Amino acid sequence: VIDVEPDIIAKSMRIGLYNDYIVQGKGSIISNSVGKKYIDVLSGAAVAVLGYGSNEIAKEYYDSSMKMQHTCFPYSINPIPISLARKLVEITPGDFEKSVIFGLTGSDSIDGAIKCARKFSGKSGIISFNDSYHGSTGFAFHATDWNKLKCGLGAGVDFHHVRFPDISKSKEEKRRIVEDIKHIISSFEIAGFIIEPIQGDSGIRVIDGETLRWIREICTQKNIVMIVDEIQSGIGRTGMWWGFEHFRVIPDIIVCGKGLAGGYAPISAIIGKRDILESLDKAQHVFTFSGHPPSCAAALKVIEIIERDELIIKNKQKGDYFIEEIKKIDSKSIKTVRGIGLMIGVEVYYKDKPVGSLIGLKCREKGVYMGYFGKNNEVLRIEPPFIITRQEIDYVVKAIKESIKEIESNKVGLDEIEFAEKNCVGLGD
Ligand SMILES: Cc1ncc(COP(=O)(O)O)c(C=O)c1O
Repeated sequence: VIDVEPDIIAKSMRIGLYNDYIVQGKGSIISNSVGKKYIDVLSGAAVAVLGYGSNEIAKEYYDSSMKMQHTCFPYSINPIPISLARKLVEITPGDFEKSVIFGLTGSDSIDGAIKCARKFSGKSGIISFNDSYHGSTGFAFHATDWNKLKCGLGAGVDFHHVRFPDISKSKEEKRRIVEDIKHIISSFEIAGFIIEPIQGDSGIRVIDGETLRWIREICTQKNIVMIVDEIQSGIGRTGMWWGFEHFRVIPDIIVCGKGLAGGYAPISAIIGKRDILESLDKAQHVFTFSGHPPSCAAALKVIEIIERDELIIKNKQKGDYFIEEIKKIDSKSIKTVRGIGLMIGVEVYYKDKPVGSLIGLKCREKGVYMGYFGKNNEVLRIEPPFIITRQEIDYVVKAIKESIKEIESNKVGLDEIEFAEKNCVGLGD
């Protein structure tokens, strides 16, 4: 049992799903401070792509640290980040010269991608979508359309937001979104367009392929850098290395992070057209820890394991199975089941009230640790480690089904309802 009060950590950093102390993990099972075990379908926010406690990855990190833990790559180069950059270029489509810029977390690499777009194009406007989440640092924060978070922090200049053309939108709605985009492009000097191919934190919303291909075309015509945010959807989660590959488009720049080193190291990367990335002057986007060798070694190992164990194709198969099994649950409380591969969202309402957090809480009692998100926490977040087994998927689906039934038959305590309502910020309106 851990007896430490979290108040020493500022509350801004404690969003809180269930206020559980998670202390250990092995494979796809995690456990809390009193030894309760859970099947993990959150992966520490889509990060622990290969689960927990991998000797192979930890050894790679350790060996690399013992050889040379840090050179400050921007000053003194080292072969390991170069090998990782080569590998990332190899797994990224696009028949053009590419290069790579390393960062530490998704947000800073989104900042870097925006810097590249501005420097390359000589313009400053950035378009992103409503309800998108691109990060918490400067430019990334302004590209994010999560107004609740921006309260009291000032406005971003030259950031424009348009409605997200997800596949549920009607033809007419998508046509109007296209008109809105045309209007912004003709009214402002636009440098870059930043897109999550599958919006993550808004509750797993898949973009319409046709609209995305139109965006690709307009970006080419108007010299706008097309940036795809693969921080949540990348590294094979959806059954392709990158989410955009489902839609037959090639962006100019992609940004990845989260699962790149499986959670063994904080690392992110910008991968893109060489001339765009090379438009930045020396030191315009560097950090002391950019290209940290042990982190890059861990990332190389993660990619090697994903390839060796053929996890990408398996992710698609497991994801299809997961989605089918959830769809079989006979309940009016499930409104939609969305996603591709192991990036799944389940929209849940009971009597018009969003019950994502309540179902999450109920599942946790049954030994399943899942997230919830969306505007009002109305979506169950299912982004498990890639190593999840069919048996574990069956267990998770059963837990969701039983949790929903308990809610529908009023077998929920008032304390649970109160807890579920108080915790965790939703996107908000
Ligand atoms: C799509 C997307 N972009 C950017 C970010 C920001 O990444 P990070 O929190 O690693 O800075 C996130 C994090 O949730 C994300 O999901």
